[in-house]
Amino acid sequence: MAYINDNFTKIQHRYLFADVAKRVAAYKEQNPDVEIIRLGIGDVTQPLVPAVIEAMHRAVDDCAKAETFHGYGPEQGYKFLIDKIIEHDYKLRGINFDSDEVFISDGAKSDLGNIGDILSVNNLVGVTDPVYPVYVDTNTMAGRQIRYIPCNEQNGFMGDIPNEKLDVMYLCFPNNPTGAVITREGLQRWVDYALSHNTLLMYDSAYEAYITDPEIPHSIYEIPGAKECAIEFRSFSKTAGFTGVRCGYTVIPKELKIKSSDGSFAALNPVWNRRQCTKFNGASYISQRGAEAVYSPEGQRQIKEVIKYYLDNAKIIRSSLQKFGFKTFGGENAPYIWVKTPGNEDSWSFFDRLLHHAQVVTTPGAGFGTSGEGYIRITAFGSHQNSEEAMRRIEKMG
Ligand code: MLT
Repeated sequence: MAYINDNFTKIQHRYLFADVAKRVAAYKEQNPDVEIIRLGIGDVTQPLVPAVIEAMHRAVDDCAKAETFHGYGPEQGYKFLIDKIIEHDYKLRGINFDSDEVFISDGAKSDLGNIGDILSVNNLVGVTDPVYPVYVDTNTMAGRQIRYIPCNEQNGFMGDIPNEKLDVMYLCFPNNPTGAVITREGLQRWVDYALSHNTLLMYDSAYEAYITDPEIPHSIYEIPGAKECAIEFRSFSKTAGFTGVRCGYTVIPKELKIKSSDGSFAALNPVWNRRQCTKFNGASYISQRGAEAVYSPEGQRQIKEVIKYYLDNAKIIRSSLQKFGFKTFGGENAPYIWVKTPGNEDSWSFFDRLLHHAQVVTTPGAGFGTSGEGYIRITAFGSHQNSEEAMRRIEKMG
């Protein structure tokens, strides 16, 4: 007799973005001629930059010849990419890693979901609320208890350091969905909390490329002590338009140790390596060559232009909405704008109104958690034209 994992009955019936897509599809079916502007899911709209395209073409050519063909790659990723990541994303910020501390994957979402494989189901998990649904869903699927730390206007969408002892805590900065960013001092407080409670921090920095303020940390490892308590997740999706190509990476420092059931401390790095060897065959050679090109001088120049393009959208959206009298948060050093609904309207109702009366798709804040009620999230990943047109339509809607 086979039994289903009952924990799946405890998660929301539909994944948030699938739910939004279903409502949009239903509306589109009834209104086939209307032009919908999609500022809901944070999917990029600008093409891959030329440096990445050229590198991927070369990689395809490699695979066309027996001498340069690539089959299964290392489960941990190719050294050519790992070395670039260590050099550019860490060494330039004064942080040193060995190549076996970086694991390449097919994206941060997979790693954030899979990391639970190496953790006990008995861990008490903390998340900020509102929250990227993947942290909550994957821990609920595994049967872990979750504590929600409210992030609201009063605490600057930061959430207060908890009084109780959490075993695992997820942090995401620049934040999805609120667009909030954390200072070095703020992050140091989390690291201090983690070190004094033996808490494992899961630091999702998928949006670090949007930070323009030099005072804001890009990596948790800029904070002293973080190597002993934190795993960092990064992605090429929003940095270089890889939402469809798929490539990301996870850093697990060798110093990072957590408790085994016999009371001794065990390093997580070899355990994750073991997990990946069994369950993962590595990200594709072509994606990894594309990601490597992101670090070339042309690649850097080109992706920075695209990031600026999206940040300009964020500015258009933020300033327009403020002009129309909306209260907005985020959208600076971050690609998401968090918007208070007018007159305390609930998130899904305002989402529906924007869809039906302005044909603009957003994401209802309540879909990210209880504290997201009364807000919607707008992404800056559209085109300039669509961002401007969406604002015109919202203004007209009144
Ligand atoms: C979002 O819209 O929150 C993101 O695009 C989802 C993701 O990165 O998986």
